[in-house]
Amino acid sequence: MKIAIVGLGYVGLPLSLQFARSDTWVLGLDIDAAKVESLNAGRSYIKHIESATLAEQVQAGRFSASADFSRIKEVEAVIICVPTPLNKNREPDISFILDTGRNIAPHLQKGTLVALESTTYPGTTDEDLRGVLEAGSGLKAGVDFHLAFSPEREDPANPDSKVAAIPKVVGGLTPACLARATALYGRAIKTIVPVSSCRVAEATKLLENIFRSVNIALINELKVVYQAMGIDVWEVIQAAKTKPFGFMAFYPGPGLGGHCIPIDPFYLTWKAREYSQNTRFIELAGEINTAMPQHVVNRTAEALNARRKPVNGSRILVLGLAYKPNVDDERESPSYVLLTLLKERGAEVAYHDPYVPVIRPTREHPQWAGLRSINWDRQTLQAFDAVIVATNHQAVNYQELADWAGCIVDTRNAMAAVKTKAGQVWKA
Ligand SMILES: NC(=O)c1ccc[n+]([C@@H]2O[C@H](COP(=O)([O-])OP(=O)(O)OC[C@H]3O[C@@H](n4cnc5c(N)ncnc54)[C@H](O)[C@@H]3O)[C@@H](O)[C@H]2O)c1
Repeated sequence: MKIAIVGLGYVGLPLSLQFARSDTWVLGLDIDAAKVESLNAGRSYIKHIESATLAEQVQAGRFSASADFSRIKEVEAVIICVPTPLNKNREPDISFILDTGRNIAPHLQKGTLVALESTTYPGTTDEDLRGVLEAGSGLKAGVDFHLAFSPEREDPANPDSKVAAIPKVVGGLTPACLARATALYGRAIKTIVPVSSCRVAEATKLLENIFRSVNIALINELKVVYQAMGIDVWEVIQAAKTKPFGFMAFYPGPGLGGHCIPIDPFYLTWKAREYSQNTRFIELAGEINTAMPQHVVNRTAEALNARRKPVNGSRILVLGLAYKPNVDDERESPSYVLLTLLKERGAEVAYHDPYVPVIRPTREHPQWAGLRSINWDRQTLQAFDAVIVATNHQAVNYQELADWAGCIVDTRNAMAAVKTKAGQVWKA
């Protein structure tokens, strides 16, 4: 069987490899020519996907990448994994999905299955994507070609997050679409969870991510409240976790990051307005989580103040640029906000991240492009007035940090198991 996977990013690439391993010939399509070239040469650009794993599938002829969308006519199914960001007004930007639809439509053959994976609001598949596919192909969805939505559940760097083992929710436009999509995903994924429509599948993914956003906001709020009471929220979570039912641990941090949790909930907020519905939980969670970097900056100012130092003119290191531990993904990372807020207050800032040697150009934070991760050694670390632990990468030696840095502001409880001096660590 031949399929195409459009968008060879954090979602599309591992999915392609899982299909390739499952005896499926995969044509990876991407508009980024550099990515296409590197993948065809067997070079992975994602830290947790090994080049050897990719090269094995390329050499076996089961995976190849291309930027030529006319090759859609060679395949029986197309899976779309392109980005779904927010625009500058924090509204859904589904232009990547629509562009993909327009690119593939002229080459769509009768009987092809098109499955969307990008996280989005209910109605994207059966209204927006369906519209461009039908207009560009002259074919009718559910009659001439099949249409489905199946959300991705990747958890980068989590060893338990193996594409094949994560149950996959699938919704189809018609029962026949659902049957086709179930059969397709069943080739590569162990458990398929069929639902009654594309909209239910879209809404399921949003529920999963909103659940995280709201619970992270709750624990961030409790962190601030308990801190004022002199209670360590981390100790509270450890104790609460011993409850064998009805509790799930979430952890506080410097703010939300990544391509999903800070963004996806607002896809629902936007769509809900069309139905005159408000999403107060989502907005409140967004407000609390967005305020976290400022909270960390305020704690850093307190910590410096205790040493008779102002933020203005102090040298402050942000440790960890990736939005979560042990990954190289720094999209939407609160570390960028920390760097910016501290600089605005006159601090001299730098960062260290073993997985992000240099900051690439981004649309959201162009001013930081080109900045390099500083060296990790005693002399360099000693020169900082404060170090903010923003990401708790396992590859960082926190005992060295305690030995070398005078003042540490810890947003991740990374220093808990390390020998530190009295007054050295400020939890934030
Ligand atoms: N990263 C995750 O952990 C994760 C988890 C679950 C869901 N998702 C969702 O999956 C979708 C993709 O996310 P991602 O993290 O893989 O994004 P990504 O930015 O890593 O990859 C997207 C890829 O699509 C390509 N692309 C952009 N426009 C294109 C077009 N018109 N045609 C072909 N290719 C195009 C880009 O060049 C890039 O390679 C998003 O909707 C995201 O919300 C991501």
